[in-house]
Amino acid sequence: MAATTTSSMALMKMMRFTDSSPSSTAAVSARVLPFRNPGRLHFQLGSTFRRTITTHRDSISSSNSATAFCCSSAVTASVTAESSFNVIDGKKVSKEIKEEICAEIAEMKDAIGVVPGLAVILVGERKDSATYVRNKKKACEAVGIKSYEVCLPENSTEEEVLKHISSFNDDPSVHGILVQLPLPSHMNEQNILNAVCIEKDVDGFHPLNIGRLAMRGREPLFVPCTPKGCIELLHRYDIGIKGKRAVVIGRSNIVGMPAALLLQREDATVSIVHSRTKDPEEITKQADIIIAAVGQPNMVRGSWIKPGAVIIDVGINPVEDTTNPRGYRLVGDVCYEEASKVASAITPVPGGVGPMTIAMLLSNTLISAKRIHNLK
Ligand code: GUN
Repeated sequence: MAATTTSSMALMKMMRFTDSSPSSTAAVSARVLPFRNPGRLHFQLGSTFRRTITTHRDSISSSNSATAFCCSSAVTASVTAESSFNVIDGKKVSKEIKEEICAEIAEMKDAIGVVPGLAVILVGERKDSATYVRNKKKACEAVGIKSYEVCLPENSTEEEVLKHISSFNDDPSVHGILVQLPLPSHMNEQNILNAVCIEKDVDGFHPLNIGRLAMRGREPLFVPCTPKGCIELLHRYDIGIKGKRAVVIGRSNIVGMPAALLLQREDATVSIVHSRTKDPEEITKQADIIIAAVGQPNMVRGSWIKPGAVIIDVGINPVEDTTNPRGYRLVGDVCYEEASKVASAITPVPGGVGPMTIAMLLSNTLISAKRIHNLK
């Protein structure tokens, strides 16, 4: 990792970080890494500072996973540690990116009288999907992207979805088309994703886009938003990827697989850990960079992490929390409390990768509109 310059050191802010664990009083002084916009800022590893962490027994049993709370369930302990630990602030980075996009869209509108358009198709009544779609729509409005939405009932036919895709494919005011996943089980996901024309495939899920991502010397028209957001975070914090050992945990089409391809394109040496991997801990422990995208709360423990590793936690897992008015809280795939004692940097959950996914969707939609209208 590159050493931090004096000027960037001066920029480093100290902040008080409080773990959101309901029964944890962990208080960690952590640097929120600065980032240079739109360029890079050197990322510092190795300086030390003192912190005191007090953890308490977590009495809540999780219905989600046996590992949901184990990383904060140790007996009350007081730990004083010397280490370097940085928060990778996805919320802040995504805000900057959205401001950049907003400015470009205003310029585009002035120049050719066109704004980018994004069509979202939602099928069924899944609450999480409805929330994601609502957030995408809100984000579009905030930056000046026109959003089009089709909500279909759970029992819709595949043909109905294909008809809407076809109509958006032909609509010149639509530059991006997104079909929210997962689809109801009676639908063939492949048929539906294949129907989105690749010039408007802002999710990057069309097999031609994924195929190009996998091939040397080929360029996809779009890169899937969540993995693109992970890599963008590494770039914006000037975290080197070339020659690094990277481990991606999870091999989903949406995140794990494309994330591994992207890391490889950036010359990392990449391993993928999945449900059939023997000794995942041993493999993960060799990584300089970990991208965890497995959907298992707190699965990656402190013992899995090489000292100084950088962690991008894609997991957003609800776990029961009776002290929270909503009855649950969100945790990542990585046990944050333990990771913060070993890693050099980590994305928080929430506020890490989540906001980046939406920022990358807006970015892909703008890229599409510019390409369609031959703008630089
Ligand atoms: N469901 C979960 N993540 C995504 C995503 O990035 N795109 C779509 N279309 N559906 C999702």
